[in-house]
Amino acid sequence: MKEGQHSWLSIVWFCLICNAFVLVSSQPLALNCNSKGGKDEDGRKWEPDEKYLKSSNGSTLVQAGYQDPSLLSKIPYMNARIFTSLATYEFRIKSEERYLIRFHFYPSGYSKFNISNSYFSVTAGGVTLMKNFSAEITCKALTQAYLVREYSLAPSDSKTLTITFTPSKNYTNSFAFINGIELIAMPNLFGMTGMVGLGYLKEIDVSLENLQAMFRLNVCGQTIPPSKDSGAMYRIWYNDDPYIFGSTLGICTGAPKDLKIDYGKSLRSTAPEDVYRTARSMGEDAGLNTKFNLTWIFQVDANFIYVVRFHFCEFVYDSPNQRAFNVYINNKSAQVAPHPVDLIDWTRKKGAPIYKDYAVHVADGPGDAMILIQMTPATEMKTQFHDSLLNGVEIFKLNDGNKNLAGRNPHPSSMLLKAVTEQERSFDTKSDNNNAVIAGAAAAFVLVALTVLASRKRKQEAGVEAHTSSWLPVRGNSHSNESKDGKSHNSHALALAQGLSRHFFISEIRQSTKNFDDSNVIGVGGFGNVYKGVIDGGTKVAIKRSNPTSEQGINEFQTEVDMLSKLRHKHLVSLIGFCEDGGEMCLVYDYMALGTLREHLYSNEEAHLSWKQRLEICIGAARGLHYLHTGAKYTIIHRDVKTTNILLDEKWVAKVSDFGLSKTGPEMNQGHVSTVVKGSFGYLDPEYFRRQQLTEKSDVYSFGVVLFEALCARPALNPKLPKEQVSLADWARHCHKKGTLEEIIDPHLKGKIKPECLKIFADTAVKCLSDQGIQRPHMGDVLWNLEFALQMHGTTEASTEAE
Ligand SMILES: *[C@@H]1O[C@H](CO)[C@@H](O)[C@H](O)[C@H]1NC(C)=O
Ligand SMILES: *[C@@H]1O[C@H](CO)[C@@H](O)[C@H](O)[C@H]1NC(C)=O
Ligand SMILES: *[C@@H]1O[C@H](CO)[C@@H](O)[C@H](O)[C@H]1NC(C)=O
Ligand SMILES: *[C@@H]1O[C@H](CO)[C@@H](O)[C@H](O)[C@H]1NC(C)=O
Ligand SMILES: *[C@@H]1O[C@H](CO)[C@@H](O)[C@H](O)[C@H]1NC(C)=O
Ligand SMILES: *[C@@H]1O[C@H](CO)[C@@H](O)[C@H](O)[C@H]1NC(C)=O
Ligand SMILES: *[C@@H]1O[C@H](CO)[C@@H](O)[C@H](O)[C@H]1NC(C)=O
Repeated sequence: MKEGQHSWLSIVWFCLICNAFVLVSSQPLALNCNSKGGKDEDGRKWEPDEKYLKSSNGSTLVQAGYQDPSLLSKIPYMNARIFTSLATYEFRIKSEERYLIRFHFYPSGYSKFNISNSYFSVTAGGVTLMKNFSAEITCKALTQAYLVREYSLAPSDSKTLTITFTPSKNYTNSFAFINGIELIAMPNLFGMTGMVGLGYLKEIDVSLENLQAMFRLNVCGQTIPPSKDSGAMYRIWYNDDPYIFGSTLGICTGAPKDLKIDYGKSLRSTAPEDVYRTARSMGEDAGLNTKFNLTWIFQVDANFIYVVRFHFCEFVYDSPNQRAFNVYINNKSAQVAPHPVDLIDWTRKKGAPIYKDYAVHVADGPGDAMILIQMTPATEMKTQFHDSLLNGVEIFKLNDGNKNLAGRNPHPSSMLLKAVTEQERSFDTKSDNNNAVIAGAAAAFVLVALTVLASRKRKQEAGVEAHTSSWLPVRGNSHSNESKDGKSHNSHALALAQGLSRHFFISEIRQSTKNFDDSNVIGVGGFGNVYKGVIDGGTKVAIKRSNPTSEQGINEFQTEVDMLSKLRHKHLVSLIGFCEDGGEMCLVYDYMALGTLREHLYSNEEAHLSWKQRLEICIGAARGLHYLHTGAKYTIIHRDVKTTNILLDEKWVAKVSDFGLSKTGPEMNQGHVSTVVKGSFGYLDPEYFRRQQLTEKSDVYSFGVVLFEALCARPALNPKLPKEQVSLADWARHCHKKGTLEEIIDPHLKGKIKPECLKIFADTAVKCLSDQGIQRPHMGDVLWNLEFALQMHGTTEASTEAE
């Protein structure tokens, strides 16, 4: 660790003195494989790769034909460089430095290139990183749209680093491709590491090894994005929920807010503070805790040595022997009594992070190669409490004797749907073999948070070939006592498998909402109350609690989990997780600091949104709806569009919420769904009401009402008004027709909207309210018109200010 620190400091020093001519060695480099650079959604700069391309006989720049909704950023994924013969990149590096290399792959349609033909190998600095690699097969097996592979190259004496891409000759028309490359000098965070099972008899000097980062988890915490990583290494830390295994999942705990995380002499770059601020422990029942192991499972490639790194930080106890526990890897003792993990004994203080590495060889054998991590209290030590703790974990693969890190492509048919249906069946038959649920993904650095729509699509495409290994984690029947109908199990398994939302215990939810205290209620919906809560020692969330006695509630709960775990979009409220425990069902969402659109329009006397704000909010909501209607292979119809379901975050960004009534529509452009009419009065599409046939145009109608609410600042229905004015939709259309719309707009807006802008807005809203769905515009057109209206307004503001 000291050595690592030394070299890191020396890099910093090095940067300071000769920043001018160091090309790569100290500045993190991010290459967009295109002739142009640009910024990603996180604001990070990517430069064109050309200048580093040494030989590229037959390199073609291409653009992806389709942007998968799960892609968080166009850069670097939407363009690629394709190599039909061997190609090399060359970088000047600093010798004796460890380098992190990250490859970004988005296997998609690229003009005339058929991605199914892409098999290639990649080497860097003489190390084979991938061989016969198919990004398409790997992504399919992981049900992801894109893939990030991360490696860490051992220091060498070379001053250049060569990365080669070689299309596989075994396939005709084969080619290699790459979307983005990152190269980052990193501190050498590795050292002498004992082999598990051999005690300290055998140690490996990992600081000299080439590694592949397989898993990186923030145990019991949120995903930490690249921009929030420590040490400027742009790593992503994922939640561990998909990998936890067994009938007892432990509980999530967080460090007290005021506790300072003191890195002391250890390196801040090993892991960000957020990793150390949350942990999984076993729970309060000491008797129970001694009877089981807290267990995680990871699927890996056989015939490699792996380094398992545990990140620990004790934030509850402050004396040795209060909490001491045994750690096992693949059934072998890694750290057990008489030398168990005793964090205070190691660090001498609360709030001090520490990590420990263990190496383990994973042999080839029957079944899937895996790494099993287990922890249980070290009762032999007669500790004061019986508990164990884990804050974070990373797993690295070490190169073999042939300087090879490449594994096999995963089985193409291992697939989500299969895993889920198997799981469902196992609830009926109670068959045991499905309890051994496999988590994780070999050979891939998993992007768990981002499966989303891609997975949904592939599910439909995939066949039904039997394959028992599931690449995606599905939790075992951990709650087998809770529901007899199997229904909630399905939703549970589905949610985990599809969106990999986080699972909460009712104890956590109760704690976070002060046991559902009335003072924490922030809303009341058809589904139940909505509470404000705090999780992970500071993250604000909104928690919807279902009324468990209502069948309707249960259905809506399921629909919402199903929908939201598949959807991620800037303008849709996002689901953090759910709780289905102790007879309670709750959904946990991002907290929307500014509440509903409605309360800013007229519920609250003081708040008066400017016209520009209203336009921007409507545009945001329209984007969210447009995405629902067209972003997926199947149209999703919201069915309950209204101003109380448009929420605003602290930056006034509009997010569509409440998917309890949503329906997956037929394949696009193919008619309608017949259903029982549901929705909210005042917003209901009259055609849907008459014919009971639902199309996405029903949402367009409701959105038309929303637009007039924003313009007129009055409710959709106001029974106190004269009869002809009760319904805003009818009244606004009437006024629009007679040319008296000006008279009903919000008095606060009078004189502040340029006539051209008002005309576009009102015409659009009226069109949305057309009697027949076929006459109503698509959300995409609505969006376009609103943006046009905003542009008109933009020019107005300048001129009115000048007046
Ligand atoms: C580039 O490709 C052409 C034709 O395929 C070949 O003749 C030439 O030798 C190649 N050059 C290099 C440097 O590989
Ligand atoms: C791409 O190649 C695969 C396998 O060779 C084939 O099944 C598929 O039809 C091809 N797709 C196109 C668009 O040519
Ligand atoms: C091509 O196939 C041969 C024989 O099956 C194999 O030995 C070789 O490793 C393969 N090459 C690649 C690049 O996959
Ligand atoms: C660990 O032990 C369990 C139970 O004995 C066994 O099923 C499992 O295969 C073992 N795992 C490894 C990786 O050795
Ligand atoms: C925990 O796991 C280890 C390794 O598989 C095993 O030896 C031990 O008996 C387990 N302890 C309990 C309490 O299950
Ligand atoms: C290359 O990968 C494909 C797909 O996983 C596999 O079928 C084939 O056997 C592999 N070829 C070699 C030479 O490993
Ligand atoms: C599950 O049900 C069985 C039998 O009803 C009971 O003995 C057991 O304690 C229950 N387990 C839990 C975790 O509630």
